[in-house]
Amino acid sequence: MKAVLCTRLGGPDDLVLADLPDPVAGAGEAVVSIKAVGLNFYDTLIIAGKYQTKPPLPFSPGGEFAGVIDSVGAGVTAFAPGDRVLGYTGFGAARQCAAVPVDKLVRLAADLDLDRAAGLNITYGTTYHALRDRAALKSGETLAVLGASGGVGLAAVELGKQMGARVIACASSDDKLAFARAHGAHEGVNYAKEDLKDALNRLGGEHGIDVIYDPVGGPLSEAALRTIAWQGRFLVVGFASGEIPRLPLNLMLLKGCDVRGVNWGAFVRQNPTDYRAGLDQLTRWCAQGKLSCHIHAVYPLAEIAAALKALTNRTAMGKVIVRP
Ligand SMILES: NC(=O)c1ccc[n+]([C@@H]2O[C@H](COP(=O)([O-])OP(=O)(O)OC[C@H]3O[C@@H](n4cnc5c(N)ncnc54)[C@H](OP(=O)(O)O)[C@@H]3O)[C@@H](O)[C@H]2O)c1
Repeated sequence: MKAVLCTRLGGPDDLVLADLPDPVAGAGEAVVSIKAVGLNFYDTLIIAGKYQTKPPLPFSPGGEFAGVIDSVGAGVTAFAPGDRVLGYTGFGAARQCAAVPVDKLVRLAADLDLDRAAGLNITYGTTYHALRDRAALKSGETLAVLGASGGVGLAAVELGKQMGARVIACASSDDKLAFARAHGAHEGVNYAKEDLKDALNRLGGEHGIDVIYDPVGGPLSEAALRTIAWQGRFLVVGFASGEIPRLPLNLMLLKGCDVRGVNWGAFVRQNPTDYRAGLDQLTRWCAQGKLSCHIHAVYPLAEIAAALKALTNRTAMGKVIVRP
């Protein structure tokens, strides 16, 4: 089978396409024929050795996937060959087949194509956890989403709208804002052209912004936090800008607001039952057309470098998928 391997830390062009022996399912495992892999911004970090998870070399990038079970190992009764599944393994999916512990797999009950299923787990899972469990977003509240056309950003626009919020998309181009509006955002702020604080103050009015969803970091974080409502919630999701901001504590005092961390990987480990129930809900909504799981582009396995560059050069809108 073909596998993309990170044999030395570096950029997308340092990855190699290799031939490996077909895997065999051990006890408690299933061999999955991987049909689609969802790429995430953190894949660009993990291959550079800049992510909190540092797998031993060589490893395959790609933390989420959808596929079909080929065979199962001893003791596995919950899955059978032919089952359509999606999975979250953190890394290791950019290959044609993988032996996966079955507790990392969820049967794909809904009638959903495997490309969209592959890109749903991390982005929508993170965002559902963030808006529901961390922010307790309520219908009628105002939600500002930074990086609103990216993977998790688009998920926040769509889930925020579905939860009844007024959604303000914030992004770096008018095309990205038009895309976010087409997916449910009510208003848009182009932070490459307009000062983010001024724009959110204008749109938030005297009340301010109830919930801020921030996967970007850098100077935009403080600019957005300064517009938050009394008892608002600021969600720390990620730092795609490459800069982890430092926020002045006087703002939390003055606004009586909360800065709340979102750590989806830890949530999955701590609350596996909630994770699975949430994923079932998200796949059903996606199959019913309530969530788009919009795919920016699908790349063959051999072109994974180009796929990762669509994330680093900020051109991707929605999910980037690799099809082994
Ligand atoms: N906390 C968690 O559990 C969790 C889970 C999933 C993801 N994350 C994090 O969330 C962030 C976004 O992940 P993603 O997979 O959604 O990424 P993505 O699809 O690449 O989207 C990132 C967005 O960030 C903005 N951005 C600003 N500066 C950028 C830069 N220098 N390079 C790339 N993008 C830049 C871009 O929007 P504009 O061009 O409009 O600014 C882009 O659309 C990452 O930091 C990731 O690690 C965290």
